[in-house]
Amino acid sequence: MAWVLLGACRTDMHVQPRYKSLEPSPFFDDGRSARPLVEGTVARGHLRIDEHLYTGKVNGVDVDTFPFPMDRAMLERGRERFNIFCSPCHDRTGSGNGIIPQRGFRHPPSNHIDRLRKAPVGHFFDVITNGFGAMYSFASRIPPRDRWAIVAYIRVLQLSENATMADVPPEARVQLQREGP
Ligand code: HEC
Repeated sequence: MAWVLLGACRTDMHVQPRYKSLEPSPFFDDGRSARPLVEGTVARGHLRIDEHLYTGKVNGVDVDTFPFPMDRAMLERGRERFNIFCSPCHDRTGSGNGIIPQRGFRHPPSNHIDRLRKAPVGHFFDVITNGFGAMYSFASRIPPRDRWAIVAYIRVLQLSENATMADVPPEARVQLQREGP
């Protein structure tokens, strides 16, 4: 009955020469079967050579320009993302009194203080990307283009908090005056 015994010796797809995830290996010096990436490997779609777009810096210095043109659609996207991700702490005007600090979390500074009004846009991009003090990084949650849209919207908030009647188009002034302060 040799065929019964031979039946257990097949080495095709039933018995593969392979490792299970994280199984030790006597073959490699470090004993790991899971090999580290070859240095310099970039996963498809993860090439980040545009320093301006991905870090908000050029030669290590915060930029004060956007890496692509900002239009109304981008600002509206920024408003939507800001209200979702930032307003719980920074509130919808960016003055730093969102619901989370009201419940005891550290208060963020207002976006309308002089230092932040003068800060280059690259600083805001960097804060969203890497976090800042008690504020955690949003890099895994907000893709780079959306981060820029949020930064542009922060500029809108800063402008509107410091606007005067002269900045309002004449046709809209009537409405504002009717509604009062
Ligand atoms: C969980 C609360 C929380 C959320 C959400 C949050 N922040 Fe903050 N943020 C903080 C706190 C707290 C600080 C002050 C950190 C410190 O000084 O330790 C801060 C600081 C900042 C600063 C000031 C940096 C400086 O130079 O002083 C900026 C700008 C900022 N946040 C932008 C954002 C943006 C944009 C978002 C949304 C993408 C966001 N934050 C979401 C809590 C938050």
